[in-house]
Amino acid sequence: MAHEMYSGFFTEFYDILHAGLTDVDSYIEFARKFGPDILELGSGTGRILIPLARAGFSVTGVDYSDDMIARCRAKLELEHESVKAKAAIVKQDVTQLKLDRKFDLIIAPCNMINHFLEPAPLIKMFRGVKRHLKPTGVFILDNSIPDIPYMVDINRVERIAAFEHPLTGTKIIDRFTSTYDFVNQLEHNVIHLEEYDEEHNLLREASYSITMAYYFPRELRLMLEMAGLEVFHEQGSLDEDIPIGADSTQMVLFAR
Ligand SMILES: C[S@@+](CC[C@H](N)C(=O)[O-])C[C@H]1O[C@@H](n2cnc3c(N)ncnc32)[C@H](O)[C@@H]1O
Repeated sequence: MAHEMYSGFFTEFYDILHAGLTDVDSYIEFARKFGPDILELGSGTGRILIPLARAGFSVTGVDYSDDMIARCRAKLELEHESVKAKAAIVKQDVTQLKLDRKFDLIIAPCNMINHFLEPAPLIKMFRGVKRHLKPTGVFILDNSIPDIPYMVDINRVERIAAFEHPLTGTKIIDRFTSTYDFVNQLEHNVIHLEEYDEEHNLLREASYSITMAYYFPRELRLMLEMAGLEVFHEQGSLDEDIPIGADSTQMVLFAR
């Protein structure tokens, strides 16, 4: 049986899968520039939220997945009291954002918006962002730019990757198949995870499926504008302030 993706074994695998990303450093830089009071939409396991709190910023994370929130809370428990005091996690659907305060900086990192399969809920989330920004506040959205030639190549092809569990040393095999609906800009993903010990005994396995959308810069600019947000800066990379060009693989939009 395929499970909803942000549950069980996958929530543990999430941090292993994303361990190589350098986006945390970029968000700490953005927090220095636009913080200190930050709201993260879809804060997940706290991969970005916890380092922001460690760096001294006050961060509220919103997520709707019980298992991702539980994992984030468990990780926060291991932190110093001063870090715990800087972090708050709220269970909420970001399309119904209702917090009793406003923020200097709101972030939607790591392709978070690809969870919205239709424009309407995404625009709803953007309107919520607008309502929760202080008058001088900034919203930062970072997303991959769809690489159509690559997507055509990998369409329906099973890809296999191996990881070592950083705590237990076990081997995790990730079998991943994406099927694209190029007309409706949707990606159907099926993921099968297996975990083996040193003697190659199967310890755990689980299957997940999730459908996500993919977005291009022009439609995001339009949707932000429809929600009353003005894009005042754009970068084609999280690490570098370069324009979004024909070869960009990332888009980072800054709005207020
Ligand atoms: C790709 S993960 C990103 C997690 C974290 N920001 C990071 O960079 O590691 C997306 C997260 O958004 C959450 N999410 C997706 N749609 C949501 C919604 N409508 N309301 C609240 N959380 C949502 C998921 O549960 C998941 O934890």
